[in-house]
Amino acid sequence: MINHLLLHLLIIVSLILNLVSSSSSPPTALKLDSSLSVDNKNDFLISPDGVFTAGFYSVGDNAFCFAIWFTKPLFNNDQTVVWMANRDTPVNGKGSKLSLTKTGNLMLHDAHQDLPIWTTRTRDLTNSAELKLNNSGNLYLESKDGEILWQSFGSPTDTLVTNQPLTKDGVLVSSRSRTNHSSGFYKLIFDNDNVLRLVYSGPKVTGVYWPNPELRAWDAGRSTYGSERTATIDRFGRFISSDGWFFNTTDDGSQPMRRLTMDVDGNVRVYSLDEGNRIWVVTWQAIAQTCTIHGSCGENSTCSNERNYARKCTCLPYHKMVNRTDWSYGCEPEFRSSSCSDGDQDGFLRLPHFDFYGYDLKYLPNTTLDVCMEECRNMCNCKGFQYKFDKKQGIFLCYPKFLLLNGFGSVSFNGTLYLKVPRSTLSSNYSMKSVQTDELNCSGMPRTVQLDRVYDKRKEQGSIRFLLLFTYVFGIFEIICIVYFFYKTRKHITKPEGYLQVASGFERFTYADLKSASENFKTEIGRGGGAVVYKGTLSDNRVAAIKCLKESDSNQGEAEFLAEVSTLGRLNHMNLINIWGYCAEGKHKMLVYEYMENGSLAENLHANKLDWDKRFEVAVGTAKGLAYLHEECLEWVLHCDVKPHNILLDHDYSPKVADFGLLKFLDRDGNGNSEFTKARGTRGYMAPEWFFVSLPITSKVDVYSYGVVMLEMVTGMSPQGGDQHGGYERLMVRWVREKVAAAASTDGCGEISKWIEEIVDSRVKGEYDRIRMGTLIKVALQCAEEQKDARPTMSQVVDMLLHGDAL
Ligand SMILES: *[C@@H]1O[C@H](CO)[C@@H](O)[C@H](O)[C@H]1NC(C)=O
Ligand SMILES: *[C@@H]1O[C@H](CO)[C@@H](O)[C@H](O)[C@H]1NC(C)=O
Ligand SMILES: *[C@@H]1O[C@H](CO)[C@@H](O)[C@H](O)[C@H]1NC(C)=O
Ligand SMILES: *[C@@H]1O[C@H](CO)[C@@H](O)[C@H](O)[C@H]1NC(C)=O
Ligand SMILES: *[C@@H]1O[C@H](CO)[C@@H](O)[C@H](O)[C@H]1NC(C)=O
Ligand SMILES: *[C@@H]1O[C@H](CO)[C@@H](O)[C@H](O)[C@H]1NC(C)=O
Ligand SMILES: *[C@@H]1O[C@H](CO)[C@@H](O)[C@H](O)[C@H]1NC(C)=O
Ligand SMILES: *[C@@H]1O[C@H](CO)[C@@H](O)[C@H](O)[C@H]1NC(C)=O
Ligand SMILES: *[C@@H]1O[C@H](CO)[C@@H](O)[C@H](O)[C@H]1NC(C)=O
Repeated sequence: MINHLLLHLLIIVSLILNLVSSSSSPPTALKLDSSLSVDNKNDFLISPDGVFTAGFYSVGDNAFCFAIWFTKPLFNNDQTVVWMANRDTPVNGKGSKLSLTKTGNLMLHDAHQDLPIWTTRTRDLTNSAELKLNNSGNLYLESKDGEILWQSFGSPTDTLVTNQPLTKDGVLVSSRSRTNHSSGFYKLIFDNDNVLRLVYSGPKVTGVYWPNPELRAWDAGRSTYGSERTATIDRFGRFISSDGWFFNTTDDGSQPMRRLTMDVDGNVRVYSLDEGNRIWVVTWQAIAQTCTIHGSCGENSTCSNERNYARKCTCLPYHKMVNRTDWSYGCEPEFRSSSCSDGDQDGFLRLPHFDFYGYDLKYLPNTTLDVCMEECRNMCNCKGFQYKFDKKQGIFLCYPKFLLLNGFGSVSFNGTLYLKVPRSTLSSNYSMKSVQTDELNCSGMPRTVQLDRVYDKRKEQGSIRFLLLFTYVFGIFEIICIVYFFYKTRKHITKPEGYLQVASGFERFTYADLKSASENFKTEIGRGGGAVVYKGTLSDNRVAAIKCLKESDSNQGEAEFLAEVSTLGRLNHMNLINIWGYCAEGKHKMLVYEYMENGSLAENLHANKLDWDKRFEVAVGTAKGLAYLHEECLEWVLHCDVKPHNILLDHDYSPKVADFGLLKFLDRDGNGNSEFTKARGTRGYMAPEWFFVSLPITSKVDVYSYGVVMLEMVTGMSPQGGDQHGGYERLMVRWVREKVAAAASTDGCGEISKWIEEIVDSRVKGEYDRIRMGTLIKVALQCAEEQKDARPTMSQVVDMLLHGDAL
């Protein structure tokens, strides 16, 4: 027994020693015949001034890349990676390592595999090479006599840091997407004629899009006679390239940290670090109109510029997206192209102000429209043609096209695209289908990479490993016991707050912070659902809404509160309100949100401040936010209190759903009962299920509430009031349903507008699209069905609103 105890004590001591030694400061160099392991969280190289770190970087579940990043994280704890060794082949999170062999070769091995994933193919003759990371962020292998055998600056990924040269051998390649770090389609390269260019190199086509391909290099201010090919940005923000091209960033002269990155959207940008707020600020970009970037929207679609550098992709009429998660796949026709022999079957759809760049079958100057149409009809592979007036020559130009790519819609563009469509399709009316690029379908797109490779187990060592594992587990268990004992006895001295803060990933505020931010909780901006909301200004001048939760009976510990809050903090969608942080001090539990300038939908409806366009936007945005909440990302988050008071409007009236997920810890009853023992929500918006104990509560309760809100928005009637088993909303729903049914029975299709006019609120200003309005009303009615199974899901709602194919 004593022996046993002694043995354990020994193991514990050695474990502690192990911990102490590995938590001491990480090495600044890797020597020959040693390695960095993915298993050891402290295996990093850090530059002497601490700015850069090199090590294994997690790119997903059990997927790691060897990378260099800025040591200090951004305000939201994100790291900024500047280089990756194996971006296209991540390695396992166990057993992988980067080793420097005795011969001076640097190799990256994946989970005990024999062949390296990546290697520098170097050889050191001095037998003393070291791998170092210097203050510029360069990882280099240097032999004793100072020769640089290999350096990361020589093979950039998608980013140049200050003073890092781009050379003839270096290419910046964008990431595939914001979450997928593997090589994408956009490249910044020195071309064969020595000119620095942006190239789109997609799965099917490639093309240069910067500088403007219609200009010759000289006209774009570039020299083709450079004796060398190199470009760098210095610490003052001055970029100089050997083709004679240069620029200064907007903050030139000052010396913050900078990086030049080939972004996923095909634009090259320079970012400067705003040290105070820890965010990257764009201080230069190559292309102002992002739609001129090729390939961004894919085939058979067009791009239009939006505010804030954003862009929107839209399928051509009669086309639908090939892959709902990725615009680069483009759109496919919904019609069957007529057989080639019979061109007469084809008509043309006129789309003014649309331009498609490139892929011309022919160039026909001074042509009439009829001749141009005839040409396109007679060519089998003609998909349509561009027809535009050339002012200079005073003639019309005709470009029949075999591929509709690089589409760009802008009112300032005077040309017209004529799309070839079978006459039979053309005779039916169409509606333009548009979906925002940033719409994510999370169910179809895992947010992280999951490597499912099996670990290569070495059988001969199996028994020893098992023994080791056993003793480790035992040792750890004992440590836990000891620590627990210590912790128990001195509970009030140590607080595990620091740890929790790191784990939850967003900002923790103290009660004092929030008290001063809100000037002692002076301005109340909302109340209800067991919480009061105050307006406040944080120390960094961000305006926030501070929600103080009702004092709970303290049976919810801080850790539990944090676990739930941090889940909410991870939800991220443009139509969900942003949570910036929280405060949990004793009985004070608060959440800090972004502040919405235009208040709630309820206030705006009451004051009749929204025109029909804004109301449609609210309908679609709210549906997207709820769809994200329900289905696409996290199955369990139901809102349970969808109503106009919880739909907030930002400065340009885009809706954001607020108060989601709160009921998990708002009025939890202390009995440990299931979370839905009593009805929740607000009278008038509550689904019938709430009143029947036997019916399960599913996401369809939110769908019902959404339907009611939409009908309220359209009719101007209030659903509130009524008795305890359902409010006026049933009257409202029934009234609308009867109007629609009456319209359907009197005539089939002709008088589509009549019933709509009877239903919509005549006090609301502005015109509306009757087809859209009809769709919205029908969708809202479906949502407000009594039977939950008859209601659509929120993502079906989004689909129907955007594509108009309700019923
Ligand atoms: C880091 O390495 C690069 C390339 O070898 C070199 O140009 C630069 O001067 C080094 N920076 C520092 C701070 O040593
Ligand atoms: C950039 O700044 C430098 C010095 O700060 C100046 O000499 C140069 O003219 C500037 N270049 C441009 C394009 O503004
Ligand atoms: C859409 O693209 C994603 C990512 O590129 C891919 O994983 C998925 O399988 C594609 N879906 C379809 C329906 O093609
Ligand atoms: C674009 O439309 C044409 C027919 O107009 C079709 O042949 C082509 O396959 C479509 N592209 C994609 C990506 O589906
Ligand atoms: C265009 O064609 C018309 C008729 O064929 C001809 O009269 C005219 O001169 C042409 N214009 C130019 C600029 O070639
Ligand atoms: C387009 O046409 C309008 C009117 O015909 C004209 O005022 C405008 O300058 C034209 N724009 C371009 C870019 O040619
Ligand atoms: C298409 O819509 C227009 C007006 O929007 C209408 O005048 C026309 O009759 C419609 N055509 C068909 C076939 O419905
Ligand atoms: C998301 O993608 C999945 C699978 O690709 C699909 O079943 C689902 O309908 C999509 N959802 C939306 C809203 O497009
Ligand atoms: C990332 O992109 C690459 C290349 O397109 C693809 O093979 C890989 O499956 C993607 N990973 C994820 C998680 O979508």
